[in-house]
Amino acid sequence: MSHPTDRIGPLELAVVIPTFRERANIEPMLELLESALTKIRYEVIFVDDDSPDGTAERVRELAQADPRIRLLRRIGRRGLSSACLEGMLATTAPYIAVIDADMQHDGRILPLMLQKLIDEKLDIVIGTRNAPGGSMGEFSPARVRLSQFGRRLSNWVTKTELSDPMSGFFVLDQRWLETTVHLTSAVGFKVLIDLIASSPRPVRVGEVPYTFGARRFGESKLDVLVVLEYLHLLLDKLIGRIIPIRFLLFSMVGAVGVAVALGLFFVLHELLAIAYEPAFFTMLFTVMSLNFFFNNITTYRDRRLKGAAAWWGWLSFMFACSAGAYLNFLVVQQTRSLGIRWYLGVALGLCVGAVWNYGVTSIMTWRHGHWASARRTDRMLSREPQC
Ligand code: GDD
Ligand code: MN
Repeated sequence: MSHPTDRIGPLELAVVIPTFRERANIEPMLELLESALTKIRYEVIFVDDDSPDGTAERVRELAQADPRIRLLRRIGRRGLSSACLEGMLATTAPYIAVIDADMQHDGRILPLMLQKLIDEKLDIVIGTRNAPGGSMGEFSPARVRLSQFGRRLSNWVTKTELSDPMSGFFVLDQRWLETTVHLTSAVGFKVLIDLIASSPRPVRVGEVPYTFGARRFGESKLDVLVVLEYLHLLLDKLIGRIIPIRFLLFSMVGAVGVAVALGLFFVLHELLAIAYEPAFFTMLFTVMSLNFFFNNITTYRDRRLKGAAAWWGWLSFMFACSAGAYLNFLVVQQTRSLGIRWYLGVALGLCVGAVWNYGVTSIMTWRHGHWASARRTDRMLSREPQC
């Protein structure tokens, strides 16, 4: 990069680049921006989630020679959407671009996108793969179909016709960001849908086509849970103001647990003729353990506990839910003595138990910002690319 002093004047554009294990891509990415944004006063903000490959160190080295390069580090956190949002909030520039670090987005069209945003007084200009002149690149037909299905779903939720709502490549006006950012969900990979669905007014959108490139170095971070996160985001946008989606997931896991519990009790007590009490406690223990396991990989996948932290988490979960089961029992007993119909009593007991379990385990087991436990949530299962 050339020396910053030859660019005196107000900052025009911030380029936010989320990174996770992108060390080898940092320098080529900066070179690309430097050659593309020749007439624009910009800064670059890398938002790195404690990559183990030395991405942050590489950024720091290069920033020594150029103060326009900035670094935002997050410890014990993962998530592309929240990384992008926090990067966008860290700048004072009037226009903000978001682009991947791996050169799959065509950074050369950034000046065109910015120009369009300003000239047409738009809120956001999106780099799209699905308009004339753009392309999905080397996607298989199955992935293209999945992507199209996801697109229809999101257009329905955002109530905005976007040709590529999955895009993580766009330039926006900070004033619009200000109107929508407080309402975002910040979950998963799809920050664009989140921003648009959260906007309190119709969004003025522009699009510029480009061809999705091949990754230069490293590998994609998307995995099977991305689909779940995507549905989580859409549900949150639809009904999140009424019911927290995490609670919904927790209750769904719990409901499956209740069904499994009944089946298990039947097998132990009726088929294997095990006495009532040992059968009951074996059932309770097994089902609570299974519930911990499934909540850990679904409801709390973003704070997933591993290794020793998982054992401690399991223990606290067992404690909390035992108390929840007892509370459930007390409620059922109480409603019975009041002469309330048994099924209403059982339903009320389950609700009270679920709220208790959810509330207590969200604090005790999957405590937010628990660095040590959350730190290594990054060992992804598969390497499936984007949808
Ligand atoms: N800070 C941070 N935290 N960055 C992350 C994380 C994370 O948890 N996960 C991924 N990233 C960064 C990567 O380092 C990369 O710069 C960018 O986010 C995209 O991740 P990839 O793993 O390369 O995703 P992709 O190529 O499969 O998908 C991209 O392209 C899609 C199609 O346009 C993403 O940008 C999608 O959002 C986009 O829809
Ligand atoms: Mn990529």
